Amino acid sequence: MVITLIGFRGVGKSSVAPQLAARLGWEWIDADREVADRAGKSIPDIFSQDGEPVFRKWEADVMNDLLHRDCLVVAAGGGAVMNDQTRRLMQEAGPVVWLQAALETIWSRIAATLGGEGGRPALTEHDPRTEVEILLNQREPVYAAAASVTIRTGDHSIAAIVDEIVAQLPAQSEWPE
Ligand code: S3P
Repeated sequence: MVITLIGFRGVGKSSVAPQLAARLGWEWIDADREVADRAGKSIPDIFSQDGEPVFRKWEADVMNDLLHRDCLVVAAGGGAVMNDQTRRLMQEAGPVVWLQAALETIWSRIAATLGGEGGRPALTEHDPRTEVEILLNQREPVYAAAASVTIRTGDHSIAAIVDEIVAQLPAQSEWPE
């Protein structure tokens, strides 16, 4: 079984994934880091040199591999869920956990890292704040439909979020083979 963490940039997927994996005694992988390792360049470099469609292809390939493993927690990139096949594979592989956060929370975290080292590539032509609003509007229904577990992260600690995820996981006897 694979547990996939989904949600927008800045909701804490890469912070929650290692602690959830440690709690379960599983491995964890950050899908963006795996893409960067395989491509041999950073995500911003893939976007600027090769374009978003090339990144999305890498992302779909990596997710396809990861979702066929076992005892793994995957921190998915914020847009991975927009790919129909990736979404279906996530749902077949095990629980899909949406880390949900309010626009203002997401924006304040993203704003704090804007222009930083290895920053996040722009996904639209809009200013960063408008981009978050537009993409969140597009994606929230998709996150909601894909998720089997929704966690309202609020200002909860990582440990509290992990507790809540574990409490909502299906009983081990119901895990897919
Ligand atoms: C993206 C989110 C990023 C990364 C890429 C595209 C998106 O991942 O995959 O920059 O489309 O929202 P994080 O959600 O881990 O920041």
